Amino acid sequence: MVNFSKDFLWGGAISANQAEGAYDRDGKGLSIQDLLSEGVFKAPDEEVKSTNLKLEGIDFYHRYKEDIRLFAEMGFKVLRFSIAWSRIFPKGNEQEPNEKGLEFYEDVVDTCLNYGIQPLITLSHYETPYYLAKHYDGWRSRELVNFFERYCEVVFNRFKGKVKYWLTFNEINALWNFPLMGAGILTPKDQLSKQDLYQAAHHELVASAKAVKMAHEIDPNMQVGSMVLGIYNYPMTPHPDDTLAVLEANKNLNYFLDVQTRGYYPKWIQQEWKKYGVEVKMEQGDLDIIKHSVDFISLSYYMTRCVSATPEKHQIGQGNLTSVLKNPYLEETEWGWEIDPQGLRIILNQIYQTYQLPIFVVENGLGANDKLSEKNGNLIVEDDYRISYLKDHLLALDEAINDGVEVMGYTMWGCIDLVSASTAEMKKRYGFIYVDRQPDGSGSLERTRKKSFYWYKNVIETNGVSLK
Ligand code: BG6
Repeated sequence: MVNFSKDFLWGGAISANQAEGAYDRDGKGLSIQDLLSEGVFKAPDEEVKSTNLKLEGIDFYHRYKEDIRLFAEMGFKVLRFSIAWSRIFPKGNEQEPNEKGLEFYEDVVDTCLNYGIQPLITLSHYETPYYLAKHYDGWRSRELVNFFERYCEVVFNRFKGKVKYWLTFNEINALWNFPLMGAGILTPKDQLSKQDLYQAAHHELVASAKAVKMAHEIDPNMQVGSMVLGIYNYPMTPHPDDTLAVLEANKNLNYFLDVQTRGYYPKWIQQEWKKYGVEVKMEQGDLDIIKHSVDFISLSYYMTRCVSATPEKHQIGQGNLTSVLKNPYLEETEWGWEIDPQGLRIILNQIYQTYQLPIFVVENGLGANDKLSEKNGNLIVEDDYRISYLKDHLLALDEAINDGVEVMGYTMWGCIDLVSASTAEMKKRYGFIYVDRQPDGSGSLERTRKKSFYWYKNVIETNGVSLK
């Protein structure tokens, strides 16, 4: 017995900048990712470096038909992908869109629909056009709200009647820790004040609410979700100070979820501004705009973390875009991310009990250094470790549904191997499908089904029953 509904949306997720490649084809402008040659931790320079694996990605731009066919073979009901804003508006601020860019996504959407796969589109997945980063310092500038609105208007109109599910900003709360990747802000983080960050957050929140309003007006069937980096915080010890530290850490996520789901700035956020002497500049009508709250919540989930009032006393571990304290009860991936399936059940319950909106798990998966091998004359990756990781997480998700959480679907992150976001490397693979692209950029780009491919196909076919 499992609890997945008949219409549970099983699928996978990718982003434009990690998969497409073709960074300068058919009129595309540069995005910040095209200049991040070693991942997010280096400031970009003006030069596009051929060492940046994202420039070619896995060539989804030319191979999407083959890839979507493979997703369909697994039985995907949904494919999450992003539109590269700089393919539609190369600099980000033009008046007219680039038709070639729209045609590409139109064909991706149509190919999905022909297989009965619903597209779930992220409008901005760490891909701010570079021109906007350079000339406006990204989302620090109010003007981005207007540019984003124009972009949304174009894509919503183009895909009305075809695409139901949309996400505005990928992991919107990444703004706090990674203002460059999260919000296209070129000013180094240590030179940004709380004022700057809260102001940029306001711009994104207004832009996101405008997108919700517009989507509903253009096509009442469209549903728009918020998307957060979901990390559940455990107190390192039962000391009350550690629980207070958890309350503080929870603000990272709640700041956005509160506004995006409730449609106003609650008292605690106003108190934050006061505490830090921040005055968020608003235009007339902003508070009315943010009333346009999202239809659902979505999150990425890879790990939990321990929080302490005295972090210096504990051992530091690796986290996804965040630092963590080591949890003695958990094992880690090869990249040091702690593995915590129960944490998924916990965070889903926590979010649902607070906001009572349907939740879409739009990212979850295991990055591993997979190796191709030969079996009975065929190439395969025997990724039993991935199967076991995903199985445990899906069973935890099933428990969450049983707890009463409304879960719309699950899109496994990096359903086909792609270039990693944080470190721009090809060694770290997530997919059900192996791509012959090597860390040095060589390789035939050929696709090979991994063992987990067949496993997931069976999970979808049996609507999760095979997990038990
Ligand atoms: C999420 C991002 O934070 O984590 C994805 O939305 C990213 O774009 C994923 O790929 C995994 O991170 P990484 O660094 O292993 O690719």
